[in-house]
Amino acid sequence: MPAENPSSRAAAAAAQRFGAALRAPALAQLDALAALNERSVCRQYRPDPVPEDVVRLLCATALSAPTKSDLQQASIVRVADPAKKAAICSLLPGSPWLAGAPELFVFCADGWRLRRLFARKGVAFPNEHLDAFFNASVDAAIALSAFVSAAELAGLGTCPISQVRDHVERIDALLSLPDWVVPVAGLALGYPEAKEPLSARLSLSATVHTDKYDVDAVERELDAYDARRGKDWSGDKVKQYSRVLRADFGAYVARKRFKLT
Ligand SMILES: Cc1cc2nc3c(=O)[nH]c(=O)nc-3n(C[C@H](O)[C@H](O)[C@H](O)COP(=O)(O)O)c2cc1C
Repeated sequence: MPAENPSSRAAAAAAQRFGAALRAPALAQLDALAALNERSVCRQYRPDPVPEDVVRLLCATALSAPTKSDLQQASIVRVADPAKKAAICSLLPGSPWLAGAPELFVFCADGWRLRRLFARKGVAFPNEHLDAFFNASVDAAIALSAFVSAAELAGLGTCPISQVRDHVERIDALLSLPDWVVPVAGLALGYPEAKEPLSARLSLSATVHTDKYDVDAVERELDAYDARRGKDWSGDKVKQYSRVLRADFGAYVARKRFKLT
């Protein structure tokens, strides 16, 4: 059971997550910060539908996030058609829990709308290079993150799903994505039946640097982290990434007409 006081909740979650307690000063929205520090992915949902107004508010919150140069290059595709959702679930048999998620979204990097502005003005788009793809992808990732946080604060659970990119051509066709619109990740949403245990992260000494990147701090943390994590995280990650994964994604992105150099 989390402690009642948001300050001690935030401190306790940070201690569990990062191996060192944070001081949680008195802040107006500290209960929200405590909830975000306690977040973990949810892969077990209650069957209750998510009210339409809640879905709309979460989408609005997600798309209120910052957007590079006000270009607004994130799009969310809500998979509401049960047949389309079933088709996506059948592509991901390793994630049987997904079928039990009341809502599924696909967050997309969207370079199509910007190019439409140019086409509508009869102006050639001069920025066909990697940065354009990167900007749209970052916008989509920021919107995804804002959605996750908003859902958490609304008492819902989420799980991002990069596995949609394992079958990206099929999902692209199912969702009729135009050129320059590329899935970044799916997102499952619903009221949690159970959440995963809070997952420890590398300590802030390895991931937050002041004035210069501290490689020694990273090495020290890598020496210590597996013990704190209580498992061979380093070994697991090396094993997981010893297989070649999604090497065809660049070719798909190029077929979507993004330039990658
Ligand atoms: C971009 C992104 C893609 C992810 N893709 C998947 C996925 O395909 N399947 C899955 O079960 N979890 C996926 N996750 C969830 C991560 O596994 C999870 O966030 C991570 O293990 C840390 O756990 P935590 O979020 O509870 O701290 C994804 C998370 C992110 C941010």
